[in-house]
Amino acid sequence: MSKFVEIFEMGPRDGLQNEKRQIPTSEKIALVNCLSTAGFKRIEVASFVSPKWVPQMADSAEVLAGITRAAGVRYAALTPNMRGFEGAVAAQADEIAIFGSASEGFSKANINATIAESLERFAPVVEAAKAAGLPVRGYVSCVTDCPYDGPTPPEKVAEVAKHLFDAGCYEISLGDTIGQGTPETITAMLNAVLETVPAEKIAGHYHDTSGRALINIEASLDLGVRVFDAAVGGLGGCPYAPGAKGNVATEAVDSRLKELGYETGLNTNVLVEAASMVRAMRAEGKNDV
Ligand code: HMG
Ligand code: MG
Repeated sequence: MSKFVEIFEMGPRDGLQNEKRQIPTSEKIALVNCLSTAGFKRIEVASFVSPKWVPQMADSAEVLAGITRAAGVRYAALTPNMRGFEGAVAAQADEIAIFGSASEGFSKANINATIAESLERFAPVVEAAKAAGLPVRGYVSCVTDCPYDGPTPPEKVAEVAKHLFDAGCYEISLGDTIGQGTPETITAMLNAVLETVPAEKIAGHYHDTSGRALINIEASLDLGVRVFDAAVGGLGGCPYAPGAKGNVATEAVDSRLKELGYETGLNTNVLVEAASMVRAMRAEGKNDV
């Protein structure tokens, strides 16, 4: 089994979408430019969603226009519908992501659609992306627990993951949106998903609300998962998931993976620098009235 584990950096999107302070576009661009030198292959930097729903991401086109793109790095954007897809294409995102849920309560709260409606809405986005030659990633949220519906049945996660995979998503990222998963619930969920989607097409996206993201990553490594989403400085959360704290911190995942003998290809010094930029952004916010 491969000793390389990829960390997909989420800070500029999943991280900054939840900051109370409207972070200036120039600060977002500086963070992405720093992260671009760390060795990531993929960084999620933008989200073409309704600015009424997530005002923090309203400057996504400006961020994509302003960054210095590094060779070999793909800059990703969330696209909930065709309007978002068109925005992402115009801004020259290198890949897009559609985001669904394994629980009805979160689906309704986050994208104002039932699970079935959301899958219908994603279909033309995937088709248009295929036609444009853009890779599409698929998220499934609330893979163990939902803030509205409680525990999520593993079979429901498997069903949504299979649907997104069969539709053409190149990778399925499984979100423990509110960080309530345990190694036992994560393992049960992955065992169900792995019956229909191979481990090399799966990523773990674990928020660290309960401090268990790292042990959940270890449980996932045991089942062959080799891609994990993380946000530098532990930034993040989802505005529509009460209690969702940050993504697991990139620097913590990187350091744990290296202790376990995996390669990540990431430069620790750059991660430290990016984490300190994030701390400064947050400290600035605390001074706001
Ligand atoms: P809606 O209100 O049902 O849709 O929202 P609508 O079609 O009625 O549109 C409402 C307004 O938004 C309209 O504007 C549209 O034009 C506009 P108005 O006419 O009122 O002025 N609109 C848009 N504007 C810009 N870009 C667009 C767009 N689409 C419509 N693409 C919608 C449905 C999906 C748009 C809304 O619910 C939405 O934007 N939701 C996004 C919520 C979100 O971004 N959540 C965070 C990301 S998910 C996450 O963090 C989880 C993840 O990290 C994994 C995990 O942790 O589990 C991925
Ligand atoms: Mg998330």
